[in-house]
Parts: sequence; C-alpha cells; structure tokens
Amino acid sequence: MGSGYVLSDEVLNHKINEPAFPKNSSYKAERSLNDLDLFTKGQPVDFYKELRDNAPVYFHDPMPTDPEPGYWVLTRHEDIKFVSMNPKIFSSQYATGNLLTLGTEENRHPKLFKTTIDHMLNLDGEMHLGLRKEHMPFFKSGFVEDLQKKVSCKVGQLLDQIAPMGECNLVSEVSQQLPIYTLSEILGIPEADRQKLVSWMEFLELAQYFTLEQIKQKNEGVSDTTPDPEMINLFNAMVDEMFDYGKHILLKKRKNPENDLLSAIANAKIEGQELTQEFLDGSWLLIVFAGNDTTRNTMSGGIKLLHDNQDQKELLLDNPEYLPNFINETVRCVSPVIHMRRTSLEETEINGQRIGPYEKIALWYGAANRDPEIFDDPDTFNILRENADKHLAFGIGRHTCLGKPVALMQLKEFYSQFLTRFPKFEMSGEWKVAPNNFVHAIQEMPIRLQK
Ligand code: HEM
Repeated sequence: MGSGYVLSDEVLNHKINEPAFPKNSSYKAERSLNDLDLFTKGQPVDFYKELRDNAPVYFHDPMPTDPEPGYWVLTRHEDIKFVSMNPKIFSSQYATGNLLTLGTEENRHPKLFKTTIDHMLNLDGEMHLGLRKEHMPFFKSGFVEDLQKKVSCKVGQLLDQIAPMGECNLVSEVSQQLPIYTLSEILGIPEADRQKLVSWMEFLELAQYFTLEQIKQKNEGVSDTTPDPEMINLFNAMVDEMFDYGKHILLKKRKNPENDLLSAIANAKIEGQELTQEFLDGSWLLIVFAGNDTTRNTMSGGIKLLHDNQDQKELLLDNPEYLPNFINETVRCVSPVIHMRRTSLEETEINGQRIGPYEKIALWYGAANRDPEIFDDPDTFNILRENADKHLAFGIGRHTCLGKPVALMQLKEFYSQFLTRFPKFEMSGEWKVAPNNFVHAIQEMPIRLQK
C-alpha cells in the first residue's frame, strides 16, 4: 500500500454497468429484497425459495438510494461459493466493495461513507492479504483458548445478573454484552469505555433504515418525517463520537503499543507504510461492527430456534455432546450477515447466465444456507443435521470470516452455561427485529427464565 493510499477516493470513479447480456429468466418477482420491512420477521426464506426456484441468478432493481443500475441476486449455495472462490474475477475492491450500495451523496454521513469502504473487507489481492495477516495472531487457537477462560467467567457473571430477574430482554442483558466484552478484550479497550460500544452498535444497525426512510419521504414529498429529525441528529452525533473515540485510541496505541489487536492495527506496516487515517477509521468500524453484531444476533437467534423447536431443545438438553453441531445448525439458520457483494471484473458466466464486466452481484447467504440441493429439508431446524457445517454464513474463500473461532467459542460458552442454568426458559413475548437487509438485527428477545 503506497503512502496516502485511500480506497474510497477511487471508488466513486468506478462505473457499474447494466447487464451486458440478455437475462436467462424473464421471471419478475412481486416482492423486493430492498424492502427492509421484509426482514423484520426474520429472513424472507419463502422469497429466497421463490427466487431460487424461478431465477437463481436474478436481476434485481436497484436499492432506492442506489445511483447505479440494479444487481444480480444469487440464491444458490453453489453459485455463491463459486463467486466467493474466484476473487480475481469477482472483486471485493472495485466500486463499493462489499456493500450493495452507498447511496447518493446527499444521504451519506460523510465519514461513515468513507469508512465503510476503507478496510480490508473491501480489498483484493496482496493488499488484502497483508492487512489480514496483521490481524491473524489475535484469532489463532492459543489466543482464543486463553480468551475462552475469561469469556466463560463473563458468561457466568451475566447469567448471575439475570437469574434473580425471572424475566428479561436477553438482547440487552446478555447478547449485547458478551460480544462487546470479548471484542474489547481482543482490541484492548479499557473497561470504563466498553458500554459506549453498545450504544454505537444500536445506532449503526439503524443506519440503513434512517437513510432509506429519508429518501422515501423525499420522493413521496412527505414532510412529517419519521424517523424524527432529532433522532437523525442523535444518530450523526453517535457516529461522530464513535469515530473520535476510535481515532483517539488508535493513535494512543500507535504511540504506546500493547499486546492487543488495536495496537497491531495502529502499527501495521504494509509495504513499509503505516495505514492512513482513512484506513485506521475504516479498520475501526469494520472490527467493531463485524466482531459484535454478528455473534450477538446469533446468540439471540439460537434462543428463538430452541423456543420454536421444543423437540430439538429436549434433544440437546439430554445430549450436551450435540452442542457443536447445534451451533453450526444455528449459524446456518440465523445467517446473521444477510448478504455481501462483489463486482465482476471481466466477462464471465454464473450458472449459465452470462455476465459482463463491472456488474454488481449480491450473495444472499441466508438463501444459500436453505438451498435444498445441499441441505435436505432446509427449513427444518435439525441439530443432528450431518452437513450443518457446510453453511456459508461465515463466507468462504479469501475473505472468510476472520473471527469465526472467536464467534464459535463465545456461542459454545453462552449456550452451554445458559442451558445448564435455565433449561426451562421460554420466550415471554414477541421478538423485535430491526428493518435491515444487511444484518439480521434482533433488538428484543423477551424471555422467562423458569416455567
Ligand atoms: C456468527 C458470527 C459471525 C458471522 C456469521 C460472520 C460473518 C462474516 C462474513 C459473511 C464475512 C465476509 C465474508 C466475505 O466477504 O467473503 C466476515 C468477514 C469478517 N469478519 Fe466475521 N462473522 C462473525 C463473527 C465475527 C467476529 C466475532 C469477528 C471479530 C472478532 C469477525 C471479524 C471479521 C473480519 C475482520 C472480517 C473481514 C475478513 C476479510 O476481509 O478478510 N467476525 N464475517
């Protein structure tokens, strides 16, 4: 990476093309994956099925905020794997990197916009590998094993706190708290500052909703806005605060490095150069979001799956040795990262559909994970499923989730202790899921701890 390299400065000059070749299918869906309300009841698995059955490589209208033409939707396991495993053809770096859209200029939070691009998830080739290598030591088995002891104690403390409550919102009391704790231990964030991360996450999960609502209202000429403008100001203030804190702590770690991931990022030298401020900001956003939100939503999602499938819950309680496979099956069914995106760099073909250069392709992981060609009876939650670990929820290929061992370790600690202490738990009300088609964001999970 040369001195002063800033990825986001390049991407706006990159052009996304309309389909160069005729679409194989004339199928036109009535629903839209851009409709965020579709995601507030869990993932739209019936819609994924409809797309997979009728047009597995489907051309979708653009997001309302997207100045570019639409995008290809992949819903088959094999196609998503093929694209992920061929990074020379399907770039993570060209255009808006991994995100489906960055919207129009007037609707972007300027800093959030740049930082969603300037990090390793959006890099290709050697630059990506170089930056990924700097993160590696903090995800290796020795480090994760040491961390597990601390995580185990933390789970115990969190469960001690909810035990006398009888009923609680699992999200705020446990699912939000544990990943923040674990991530802060990896990053080296002082205890006193950790709760701030919880609030920042809540706002980030709503970022997509705020942007789309504002556009919708502008287009429809509505003046009485929801979300309330005050809420938007608060959102902007929170985002600023998050980046100010990241800048402050990364510069501190650059001056006085410790044995933690933030010190590694702050002092990473790629091709002899320190990361630019843009890349420091971007790496901060990526790690804080990726390391938190995903595990948090899987924890809550698994609890709902057990509540809805009492036979599977009993099976697990009677056979704790099934826990690792239960976790794989839970990650498959929850698929907390809903999609990632790539851009074709040359003329190519996906499952018989010809694709031209610089076309946008979205990988819908939740759909791949319910593909009946790979998973028998895919909509059934089955903790004995033999190939549950074949899911693509962590991605596959060069950008495969770096935090996978940390995520699995936390899920194991959480479920084993939770089920031992509260085997008779049940949901005591409706869950609430944020309108978001990028992450499956469970905001409320009311539970009663004992019958
Ligand atoms: C159940 C939990 C999790 C899921 C489902 C998940 C999923 C994903 C997915 C789908 C990707 C992108 C793959 C691609 O573009 O091909 C990714 C990348 C990443 N994840 Fe996770 N993640 C989880 C937990 C975590 C945790 C706990 C951390 C850190 C502590 C983390 C850090 C990262 C990082 C740094 C990347 C970028 C890797 C790269 O670009 O090389 N993730 N994750």
